[in-house]
Amino acid sequence: MSKLAIHGGDPVRTKPFPEWPRPTSELKDVIIATLENEGWGVGSEAISRFEDRFAEFHDAKYCISTSSGTTALWVMLKAAGVKAGDEVIVPPYTFIATASAVLMANAVPVFVDIDSDTFNIDPDLIEAAITGKTKAIMPVHIAGNPADMDAILAIGEKHGIAILEDAAQAHGAEWNGSKVGALGLGGIFSFQTSKNMSAGEGGAIISNDEAFYETCFSYHNCGRTKGGEFYEHQILGGNFRLNAMASSMLLPQINSLPNDMELRDKNRKKLDDALIQIDGLTINGNYSGATRQSNHLYLTKYDAAKFNDIPRERFFKAMQAEGIYTYMGYTPLYREKLFVTDSEEYPWLKGYDFSSMKMPMTEKIADKEAVWLKQNYLLGNNDDTRDIIDAFEKVTTTLHTKPELFQD
Ligand SMILES: Cc1ncc(COP(=O)(O)O)c(C=O)c1O
Repeated sequence: MSKLAIHGGDPVRTKPFPEWPRPTSELKDVIIATLENEGWGVGSEAISRFEDRFAEFHDAKYCISTSSGTTALWVMLKAAGVKAGDEVIVPPYTFIATASAVLMANAVPVFVDIDSDTFNIDPDLIEAAITGKTKAIMPVHIAGNPADMDAILAIGEKHGIAILEDAAQAHGAEWNGSKVGALGLGGIFSFQTSKNMSAGEGGAIISNDEAFYETCFSYHNCGRTKGGEFYEHQILGGNFRLNAMASSMLLPQINSLPNDMELRDKNRKKLDDALIQIDGLTINGNYSGATRQSNHLYLTKYDAAKFNDIPRERFFKAMQAEGIYTYMGYTPLYREKLFVTDSEEYPWLKGYDFSSMKMPMTEKIADKEAVWLKQNYLLGNNDDTRDIIDAFEKVTTTLHTKPELFQD
């Protein structure tokens, strides 16, 4: 085995991985066309064209585009009837917006630990977290790997609690052959730069429920009602609308997404087949209903005990030196300072103690085991994927056979 790059050897990879997002000529053309020929904001056909097509693509009746995934979350929570002091069940292994949007809706995020096989909320732990204040359960399809929606929808039905999906990372993902997002009352997506469909910033809410959709419309559009007067504001909403240039950029990406998905699937399979052979790495699991993943991230697990107790961070440094950027990803959200709040500013959080929380699976994954690769690593050709595998094999072989090289 050749010398590791951290010790002065040649790195496996010196070229960048495919660029993301991609400034294609098609996107440039549609932006200019909208700029020159259509409204730029409220009422623009470019916006309704995108909304109609995204709803159809995602097996939903309705779609509302928003300025971001975070604003989509806030609008969705409000439209689901989440009120001051209500509780919303969420996983702690996700992007901060899943939980911070709950706080912004004056409600309380109630964290439920994850299943360490899939990194998704553990459905077996949800019922114990339900109280008289629980208004919604919001699973996150982390990395685009669907949460156990059959189990979660059944819990929602049994307790009469709305199921809202945070599908920010799950464009095109499927549960039992149907696209995710509108499996419960509604769901959101993000079109922020890194996402598998990107307009730089942007978001969407989808649903099959007309009344919910109309309430979402109101919250995202300054409290206006559909068909109402322009200066008539029935509820406290805001301007959380997507602009027309962003909408026009997203429309062609609905057409290019399936090819990208196929490529990510193919490369993911190659990575899985190779990494499964390495003692100490475990590929990510999925539920039987997860018939399609969006592969927004490639996630795997590192077991230091199988690598002579060399911690994951040493492995990351060695991989990064080889030109493959692996990293740790999320930390448990309940540790974030923002949840240690001033009770004058957030009186509804009085009595909730986030700082002493401990969730064993989230901590095992976040603190010790998770290994992330960004989605553009899955958009390369066979040689690109081979480089990723070679770097994993090079570094892990050295960890197995010459751990002394990783000591200080
Ligand atoms: C799981 C999850 N939820 C919510 C969001 C928020 O989306 P945005 O960054 O568009 O506000 C993101 C994206 O960053 C996310 O990954």
